[in-house]
Amino acid sequence: MTQLFHIKTFGCQMNKHDSDFISQVLLNKGYRQTDSIDDAHIILINTCAVREKAEEKALTFIGRLATLKRKKPYMITGVIGCVAQEKGAHLLKRFPYLDLVLGPRNVYHIDEFLYKIEKERKRISCLDLTCEFTSFSKYNGYLNGKVKSFLKIMEGCDNFCSYCIVPFVRGREISLPSEEIIDEAKYLVSQGIMEITLIGQNVNSYNVKNKALPTFSGLLKELDSIAGLKRIRFTTSHPKDISDELIGSFGELKGLCPHIHLPVQSGSDNMLRLMNRGYTRDKYIGLIERLRSTRPDIIITSDMIVGFPGETEEDFECNLSLIEEVKFDNIFSFKYSDRPGTKALQLPGRIGEKEKQRRLSILQERQREITLLKNKLLEGTIQEILVEGPGKIGDDQLTGRTLGNKVVNFSSKINLKGQLVKVNIIKGLQNSLLGEL
Ligand code: SAH
Ligand code: SF4
Ligand code: F3S
Repeated sequence: MTQLFHIKTFGCQMNKHDSDFISQVLLNKGYRQTDSIDDAHIILINTCAVREKAEEKALTFIGRLATLKRKKPYMITGVIGCVAQEKGAHLLKRFPYLDLVLGPRNVYHIDEFLYKIEKERKRISCLDLTCEFTSFSKYNGYLNGKVKSFLKIMEGCDNFCSYCIVPFVRGREISLPSEEIIDEAKYLVSQGIMEITLIGQNVNSYNVKNKALPTFSGLLKELDSIAGLKRIRFTTSHPKDISDELIGSFGELKGLCPHIHLPVQSGSDNMLRLMNRGYTRDKYIGLIERLRSTRPDIIITSDMIVGFPGETEEDFECNLSLIEEVKFDNIFSFKYSDRPGTKALQLPGRIGEKEKQRRLSILQERQREITLLKNKLLEGTIQEILVEGPGKIGDDQLTGRTLGNKVVNFSSKINLKGQLVKVNIIKGLQNSLLGEL
């Protein structure tokens, strides 16, 4: 009988990519994927530890498996990703029905672990942060019908921002060899992929540790010459590592999409210093100005944290004045959350939950207005859309994204999936644009 597997994924693009990789491996082994946890023989939960809330969500989900496992003792249950790395074998103790705990650097060997569990009914935890990765292209099948894909170019992070758990759970930063990345990109294109997003915690510090190897901009240039690869994106970049060369790439490379996600975290120099971010507000604004003068239509998005320890009302006002000054197309904003092992745990000036919520609401409300304004500014423009498939509402509706990564919905009687089309923007909404072919 074919074994069915189900993967529940929390967290960022790195986790999504790891889950895709696992799906790919298991499909190749003859397993089939299911959306239903009730039908699955193998359930894997890919977890995120970046904030306490994310972690709680994962733990709650793991808790739900208890009854399922009682009904189906032959089932295999595993926790992978960042909470697995953080809590380790402790999870096996806390949840006696778990079979597998696997850190994010160990997913490449998933088939071996599953084999061991099946054959020997052993409970396994593997949290080796030194494991190297394997490229996607050795496996077939998962990309069927897709038009865009992630491509991992590095793993881990060495920045140790004082609030962040990522360096602890994803280990030291390593860059994948550029030849493998290029081969993988060519493979993806051969499978019908038109848009690739290069991913890593810190893509713009690609190969910084080895000056003899291609820089991030060098890698972009090589990818840009691949025939059939229409669009290249990347995420995430760190403001302290943006080079002049990279800014220049936005003016030079035909396939590089005019969008950059550049997390600023705070508009206050005091906070930026305490966060160990390695740049000032002025330096950040200078980067934005240079990006915009190189590529005037560039879409800029960011991340911000409110209620970091010691954040005064004045510091918080700096966040508001920064979003006012930069006018981001959108930001993801979060209440600061204590994470085990991080430096920020020891900082004085803790902000209460209610106050954090107040600051977050003010920031988000102002950003919502700016986002809407930005989307309205696109009304009347013609945008190139890569059509991804049917939209969420209406039968004849298709959806896709602009070069700047904004979602556009539009009507069409014919299915244009996988095509680049020109659409006239008729309305800018809060979370998307409405277009007309
Ligand atoms: N490497 C990426 C992703 C980091 S996690 C980057 O540097 O952008 C994504 C976002 O989560 C961060 O940009 C930050 O805004 C937020 N974040 C990280 N740790 C946090 C914490 N302890 N509390 C609240 N938000 C946090
Ligand atoms: Fe975390 Fe900072 Fe690394 Fe991003 S750059 S993953 S915020 S430590
Ligand atoms: Fe979360 Fe791990 Fe990504 S902590 S944000 S899933 S790197």
